[in-house]
Amino acid sequence: MTELDSLVEAARGSFAQAQTPADLENAKALYLGKSGRITEMMKGMAALSVEEKKTFGAAVNVAKQGIEAALTARRQALADAELAIQLKAEAFDVTLPGRPLTQGGLHPVSLTLERIEQIFGSMGFEVAQGPEIETDWFNFTALNTPEDHPARSMHDTFYVEGGSEAAPNLLRTHTSPMQIRYAVQHVKAHRAAAGAPSEGLYAGEMPEIRVIAPGRTYRVDSDATHSPMFHQCEGLWVGENVSFKDLKFVFTDFCRTFFESDDLVLRFRPSFFPFTEPSAEIDIQFQTGPLAGRWLEVAGSGQVHPNVIRNMGLDPEKFIGFAFGMGPDRLTMLCYGVNDLRLFFDGDVRFLSQFQ
Ligand code: DAH
Repeated sequence: MTELDSLVEAARGSFAQAQTPADLENAKALYLGKSGRITEMMKGMAALSVEEKKTFGAAVNVAKQGIEAALTARRQALADAELAIQLKAEAFDVTLPGRPLTQGGLHPVSLTLERIEQIFGSMGFEVAQGPEIETDWFNFTALNTPEDHPARSMHDTFYVEGGSEAAPNLLRTHTSPMQIRYAVQHVKAHRAAAGAPSEGLYAGEMPEIRVIAPGRTYRVDSDATHSPMFHQCEGLWVGENVSFKDLKFVFTDFCRTFFESDDLVLRFRPSFFPFTEPSAEIDIQFQTGPLAGRWLEVAGSGQVHPNVIRNMGLDPEKFIGFAFGMGPDRLTMLCYGVNDLRLFFDGDVRFLSQFQ
C-alpha cells in the first residue's frame, strides 16, 4: 500500500469515528484544511521536476478525491442519523383511538333551582336575585326580628366589614331579605305609576306581588345536614285577598310537580317566625318509595306579619299575603336519596357527574 493509499485509509477511519458534524469538520481540517496533509503535499510539489509533478500530482489528486468522497459519505450518514432520531422523537401513532371530549354539566342543586324556577314560573311567579352581603336592616330589622333574636348572635351569623358598629353588614342568613327588597321596588314603581305620593304607606291600586328569590345563604353551622353555605328559595305572594288557603294550594302543587308524585301529602305544622303570623313549618310525606311514611320538613312559611307589610311600604289594612322559605339543597337530597349535604359542595366530579 502506497503512502497515499494509507493516507486515504486514515482519513476514512477518522471520518468514521466522528460522531457529530463538528467532529467531522475537525477531522476534515487534518487532511483538506489549509495546513492539512493533502494541502501540504500539493505545496511540496513545487520542488519536483515536471515529470515527477505529472505522476505525483495525479496520484495526490486521486487521493484527494478519495478523501472528499469519504467526507461527503460521512456527512450524509451523520445527517441521516440525526433525521432518524428526530423522526423517532416526533413520531405519533395515528392508529390510536382519540380521547373522548368530556362534557360538563349542571350541578344537582342548579338542576333543582332550574326546576323550582320553572314550576313557580308556570304559576306566574317572577324570579328575583339579591345581594349575599346584606345589611342588618334587610336581614333582620325589616323582617320584624327583635334585637335579642338568637340569629343575630356572632355564633350564628357571619358578620363582615361595612355597616355601622350597631348594625354591621353580614352574609345573609336567609333569602327573606329579598321579600323586602323586591316589594319595596314593586311598590315604589306602582305608586309612582298611580300618581300617589312617594311617602307613607300605600293603599292604592297595585298588581299583586308574586315572586321567588333563590340564592346562596350563610350560617355558622357545619355537619352532615348543615353547611356554612347553603341555598334557600324564598317565595312571596302579596295582594288584597291572598290567604293561607292560597299558600296551601301553591305549595302542594309545587311539591307534587317537583317530586312527580300525586299522592304526596303535606302537613302545615304550627311554628314561629318573627316575620310571619301565623307561621307554619311545611312537612311532606311520600306514600311510596324508600322514604314512605316519614314526615320530612321542607320549608318554613306563614302569613306575612303586618310590620313586614309596613316595611314594604304597604298598608296592612289593605294588603295581605304569605311567604315561604325552602331549602333547595334538602329537596335535592330527597330527590336523589343523598344523605350527606357536604357531598354537594366538595366539588368531587365522581359524585357530581352522576347527576348528568
Ligand atoms: N327565613 C326562614 C329561615 O331561614 C324560613 C322562612 C320561614 C321563610 C317562614 C319565610 C317564612 O318566608 O314565611 O329559617
